[in-house]
Amino acid sequence: MFVLLRKITKALHLFPPEISHYLALYGLKVIHLCGFKIDLPGKFESINGMQFYNKLGIAAGLDKNGDFIDCLASLGVGFIEIGTVTPLSQEGNKKPRLFRIRSSEALVNKMGFNNKGVDHLVSKIKIRKTKIPIGVSIGKNFHTPNELAHKDYIYCLEKIYEFTDYIAINISSPNTKDLRDLEGESELERLIKPVKERQLELTNDYGYKPLFLKISPDNDEKGVEDICATLLRFSIDGLICTNTTINHNHISGSGGLSGKPLMGSSTETLRIARKFLGDEFPIIASGGVMSKEDYLQKIDAGADLVQIYTGFIYEGPKLINDILNQ
Ligand SMILES: Cc1cc2nc3c(=O)[nH]c(=O)nc-3n(C[C@H](O)[C@H](O)[C@H](O)COP(=O)(O)O)c2cc1C
Repeated sequence: MFVLLRKITKALHLFPPEISHYLALYGLKVIHLCGFKIDLPGKFESINGMQFYNKLGIAAGLDKNGDFIDCLASLGVGFIEIGTVTPLSQEGNKKPRLFRIRSSEALVNKMGFNNKGVDHLVSKIKIRKTKIPIGVSIGKNFHTPNELAHKDYIYCLEKIYEFTDYIAINISSPNTKDLRDLEGESELERLIKPVKERQLELTNDYGYKPLFLKISPDNDEKGVEDICATLLRFSIDGLICTNTTINHNHISGSGGLSGKPLMGSSTETLRIARKFLGDEFPIIASGGVMSKEDYLQKIDAGADLVQIYTGFIYEGPKLINDILNQ
């Protein structure tokens, strides 16, 4: 079955990247509706109060609106991060905005938080059937200035809180103007202090849902340590290392690079963070996992959980099977 799915995945690459993305997801939905499902073994581990059947998850951006939660879950992953979602729906950047670099097993994207808005995502996450943890990645609308960004994040937090298992604060997409400036110490503080306060208030009604921060792979050692120090100061619950990198020379000129060439800088960011944060702090790795060896390298570098995106685009569900069952 997985070999067949891999062949179908390769065939879909005859289409432009964004079209093949949706063909693949709708195809998965059909296969799922026909009854395909991987049975998961018993519960294995608790992280931040969440129960994970395995450490492998789908990274944010693959299912931006929560339209494909159950069919992705049926592939056997331990968790899924949906989003990034913003308060209002938005188109994102102009097409073409997703490029394959087949020779280096990479993608360059400049999507720009195209999504249907948080209300749509809530309507989908509410009716999911899967029991695996679902995280929601939240962001700000394109036109919201950084000084007011916390309002967009809090707006999304309030809408999704009851229904999500964890929240990922995405400040590391390179495709929303100036978003990464939010990684700077004072901007980060201005964002996460009120978000943290709201999380604690919402806990009274809906229980504690952990907050993760997703960072870029393009900070130097001191930059990563400064972010980690701020996380500890504000009792943020976890870290996601990393988003895509802007260090590339693809002809599209801008955008974020993911896949194989991201593995090095992303894993280095993870190592620095793990050293600074200590053994107990929850860290999710994302960036460059194209094989079981890459997955094991992330665990070895200190990841508690590992996400895939570009590897899944290139290999299809076979990558999940390779990582979990070989
Ligand atoms: C087309 C595309 C869209 C993405 N959208 C998001 C997003 O909305 N939010 C986010 O946090 N990360 C997003 N990412 C980044 C991925 O979640 C992931 O962190 C990154 O691609 C590195 O992992 P990979 O090398 O396994 O792809 C996106 C990546 C791609 C390729």
